[in-house]
Formats: sequence, structure tokens, C-alpha cells
Amino acid sequence: MRNGKIMIRVNPEEHTIIEQAAGKQGVPTASWARSQLLNSARRNIHGESTLKNQSSKSGKSSLSLLSLFCGPGGLDEGFRRAGFNTKIAFDIDKACVSTFNRNHAKGDPIAFVRDLSKITLKEIKELAGPDFSPIGVIGGPPCQSFSVSNVHQSEEDPRHKLPEVYAELLNKLNKAGTISFFLFENVPGLLGERHIHRYNKFKELFTKAGFEVHEKSLNAMNYNVPQDRERIFIVGINKKLHPNAVWNWPKAFKKIYTVRETIESLPDPVFNEKGRDPSTIPFHPNHWCMVPRSQKFQTPGALVEGQAWGRSFRTLQWDSPSWTVAYGNREVHVHPNGNRRLSIYEAMLLQSFPPEYVLEGNISAQVRLVSEAVAPNMAFYLAKAIKAALSFK
Ligand SMILES: C[S@@+](CC[C@H](N)C(=O)[O-])C[C@H]1O[C@@H](n2cnc3c(N)ncnc32)[C@H](O)[C@@H]1O
Repeated sequence: MRNGKIMIRVNPEEHTIIEQAAGKQGVPTASWARSQLLNSARRNIHGESTLKNQSSKSGKSSLSLLSLFCGPGGLDEGFRRAGFNTKIAFDIDKACVSTFNRNHAKGDPIAFVRDLSKITLKEIKELAGPDFSPIGVIGGPPCQSFSVSNVHQSEEDPRHKLPEVYAELLNKLNKAGTISFFLFENVPGLLGERHIHRYNKFKELFTKAGFEVHEKSLNAMNYNVPQDRERIFIVGINKKLHPNAVWNWPKAFKKIYTVRETIESLPDPVFNEKGRDPSTIPFHPNHWCMVPRSQKFQTPGALVEGQAWGRSFRTLQWDSPSWTVAYGNREVHVHPNGNRRLSIYEAMLLQSFPPEYVLEGNISAQVRLVSEAVAPNMAFYLAKAIKAALSFK
């Protein structure tokens, strides 16, 4: 390695293979090689790949999960890498469910479109099989209704009830006392003055359901995610099943990953256009971004690294982690070069999704999916902490 360059000697045959692979994705050979090398190194650091036919280290895991409000599966991806296995998952949104199945199901679908405020235990059992007895329940109900950035909050918002729906389902499922743990994720706004009574209420429901409850706000950037993303996590442990369990939150890492380390090596994305088929996008099906129509993108110096024009034009800084990936439809962060917004794929990498992961739906759906996911690396370290506390192998 010299002056930030890594020189690798390859023979002519190897050179042709590399060129062909890069050409197939329509990207320059050097950028292709750099991103392949980086992706492989990251997988080595953060755990194995996402290939769905490697559901866990052993290929099949007995650590089966029920995933509620599964979204695109960020939380499940982290748990999968730690050796858990989502047996069945639910979300009300079609793009979430097809994304989940594309990345996690090995044959038959495991995720289903359902309104969880209406689902019954009988229906869950019918879909998952009569012997279904998950070891854990994971999920984060929608957070927009509690988010401080949502200026249109309303007391009547039906989404306020969804954490209670989660707690009640957990209670019913745990009637037989077989659920070892649960994990719940949400935004810090839930602890604000306006919603704290709701938070206390469902925490009480979790305790009544038979769990010792631990709560903490964690920032994903301390867990190998190149993004400043603060979220509340509640971990519940069934003390009847695990009387000796001692809960420890995962330790923060010193190293903070940056935008540059994560997306600098990528080729330019394509722009969204009417009728574009994502499978024709070179490099990765999610490497597309919104057309940069605003004059600001054409005016040199208008969009400066690290600066923000209101909520709509926040330009990322190369050598810092990203601001929170939580975009309104037209508020995707601006790329540090100031010429365009991030592609969906860049946002996915800033969320620590593995390079093979693919989001489904149109570009607006993908903006929503990537924004709402739990960062998989954050989930991975929580899942490992749960395994350690419960002495799961
Ligand atoms: C915060 S996201 C979950 C993200 C997910 N944990 C992940 O890591 O990818 C919340 C999800 O709840 C879903 N949702 C909202 N209302 C629902 C309902 N009534 N029933 C089922 N899912 C619902 C939304 O579609 C959204 O995908």
C-alpha cells in the first residue's frame, strides 16, 4: 500500500475476468475492483454475507423469530447474521413484504401483508404451522407518529396504538411462557413529554407479559454504522425461563465510519425516469436517484458539504458519518459533491445494509423503506448481546 493506493498484480487471464465482470455491471474496472474488495472486507468485519441460502452459520437455526412490523427487514438482517432465523414476518406494506421475501425467504414466502392491529393468534399459527413456538419476538412499530420531525402529529393518530398491539400480541404468545426475549425499537420522540404516558403504558404491558424490561437509547454510529442515528431499544427477558440471565448492552466501538469510507468508491448512479425497470440499472438495482431538477444542483458552490438549506437540501460531509437516514419523499440528503441527491443504494450502505441486499417497489417506496429500517449492524450487535445474555449457542 502506497499513498492510499493498493497495487494488486494479476495475470492477463485474471485481468480479462475482472474487466468482464466490471463491464457487465457497466462500471469502470478500478471502481468495480475497489468496491468488491471493500464489500468483502466489510463482510469479514461485520459477519457473513446476506445470501439467503446461508440463513445462519449452521445453514438452519433453531433460534426462530416472529418479526412484527418487519419493514424491509433491517432488524431481521442483523439477527440473521448473529445466527437467528425469522420464521414468519408481518407488515401492512406490500413493498416491505416483497423486499423481505426477496432477501430472506429461501422458497415459500415467510413475510405476509397483514394489518397487525387485526391479526389473531390463530391466523399466525395457521400461517406458521401449529408447532410454531418462536424463541423471540422482534419489531419496531411505525415511528412517524412519535417523531419530533413530524410537525403534523395528532392525538388521534391510530398508529399511536401500535406499540400496545405489539405488547398485547406478545402477551398472548407468551401465555405458554415459551418466549425467551423480545426486542422493540423506536424513535427517541416516544420518550418526549407528549408521548411518555404511552411509553410507560406499554412498558407496563411488557412487564405484565412476563418480561424483565431494559431500555436504552443507542446511536448506530457507535456500532459500525456510518450514520448518526439515535433510537430507543427495549429488550425484554423472560426471567422465568432464564433466571440467571444478566443483560449487558453492546459496547460502543471507538471507530466511527464516514460517508467517504462507505460510498466514495461507487460509480455514478442513474436517474429515475418513468417506466424504468430497476433490473436494468447497472451496478446495483437500487443505484438510482431522483433527477436533480433544482437550480441549486447546477449553481457552483450552492450546495456545500456539511451545510443545509432547510430540511430539503442537506449536503453530506465526506469525512463524517451521515445525518440520520430518515427522509421525507423529497428530502433525500444531497451527495457530498453537491450535484445530486444520494442514490437509494448509497443510503442503504449508509444504513449498513450488505451490498447484495435489494429493496423493491418504486423509488418513493424505496425512500420510505430505507429510512424506516433498523440499521442491520446495530441489530447485529444487539442480537449478539441477547445471545450472550441467554447463553444461546
Ligand atoms: C419502523 S418500520 C419497521 C422497520 C423494520 N424493523 C426494519 O428494520 O426494517 C415500521 C413498519 O410498520 C409497518 N406498519 C405500519 N402500520 C402497520 C400495521 N397496522 N400492521 C402491520 N404493519 C404496519 C410499516 O409499513 C413499516 O414498515
